[in-house]
Amino acid sequence: MHTDAIAFAGYGTPDVLEPTAIDVPDPGPGQVRIRVHATTVNPLDLKLRSGAMAAFMPLNLPYVPGLELAGNVEASGPDVRHLAPGTAVFGAASHTYAGFALADAHRLAPIPQGMDYPHAAALPVAAEAAWRALEELDVDAGQILLIHGAAGGVGTLAVQFALARGARVIGTASATGIAHLTALGAAATTYGTGLAERVRALAPSGVDKVLDTSGADVLHDSIELAGNPDDVLTLADPMAAQAHGVRFSSGGGAGDRTADALAAVSTLHDNATLTQRIHQVLPLSQAARAHRIAEAGHLDGKIILAP
Ligand SMILES: NC(=O)c1ccc[n+]([C@@H]2O[C@H](COP(=O)([O-])OP(=O)(O)OC[C@H]3O[C@@H](n4cnc5c(N)ncnc54)[C@H](OP(=O)(O)O)[C@@H]3O)[C@@H](O)[C@H]2O)c1
Repeated sequence: MHTDAIAFAGYGTPDVLEPTAIDVPDPGPGQVRIRVHATTVNPLDLKLRSGAMAAFMPLNLPYVPGLELAGNVEASGPDVRHLAPGTAVFGAASHTYAGFALADAHRLAPIPQGMDYPHAAALPVAAEAAWRALEELDVDAGQILLIHGAAGGVGTLAVQFALARGARVIGTASATGIAHLTALGAAATTYGTGLAERVRALAPSGVDKVLDTSGADVLHDSIELAGNPDDVLTLADPMAAQAHGVRFSSGGGAGDRTADALAAVSTLHDNATLTQRIHQVLPLSQAARAHRIAEAGHLDGKIILAP
């Protein structure tokens, strides 16, 4: 049996994304097959498609992108008993630009009551990265956390997780993201020239920890503001991390925090304190258009693709 998907057969502009038909995959041990109702465009999808990551993460082409989904369990591997067919789930997966995709059962959770597929699909990757970064930075109550790119997908959830821990948050964003950050309960300032002075005006004694989700050459200032490279972590710029002696967190394998992150967002949702933004929902067939919109930047939320 076949299912519609979007794939690229060579690296390049969004135009390399083409409709294709793939075999409906069969779940192996520990896996679940999901009927995908929503997936998303993540920055990594753009980097993989363009070839920017080809030296570090060579792909088998043609390649079906997509890292997260919301949908319904259709079939389970022999040892998966806790996710019955029909269960509405969200989580991290691979090759989700398709009508059906496989996921590891331990990286899925039931969609919280009252959350729709697009909002559920928008959470797993950003929540996992945000949760992992706060854990690795050991962000604690009473500390001041500076988040670069705080109005983005990862940043928005990092702000909410950090505030829930009792930290004080200063977020950087473009002018359009400031009101969003203030509404979340963070202090906010625009990024760009003079950033360090603006942050010092908000935190005269400096900050305790810094999370960079921008990858925008902010590590030098961040080390000065925190006073120690050990208190700075980037999710976005491994090369700069190495050059500045700060941590880069990539997740995956034993470092994967998807289960914890899905539980954390479910708790925020159940307490009616989760804030999420969706920029646009497009049919999966318009994946190339979605990538163009994402590359233009200044999004006010995730772009959702609906197969
Ligand atoms: N290492 C990991 O495990 C991991 C996991 C998930 C994501 N990531 C990476 O984390 C990054 C963020 O992901 P995301 O999904 O949150 O992307 P996103 O939604 O596009 O957010 C990025 C944010 O950074 C802002 N920004 C751009 N230039 C900036 C600057 N100079 N200073 C401060 N903020 C700036 C953008 O604002 P404007 O668009 O308004 O300029 C945007 O709000 C990406 O590079 C992604 O690949 C890494």
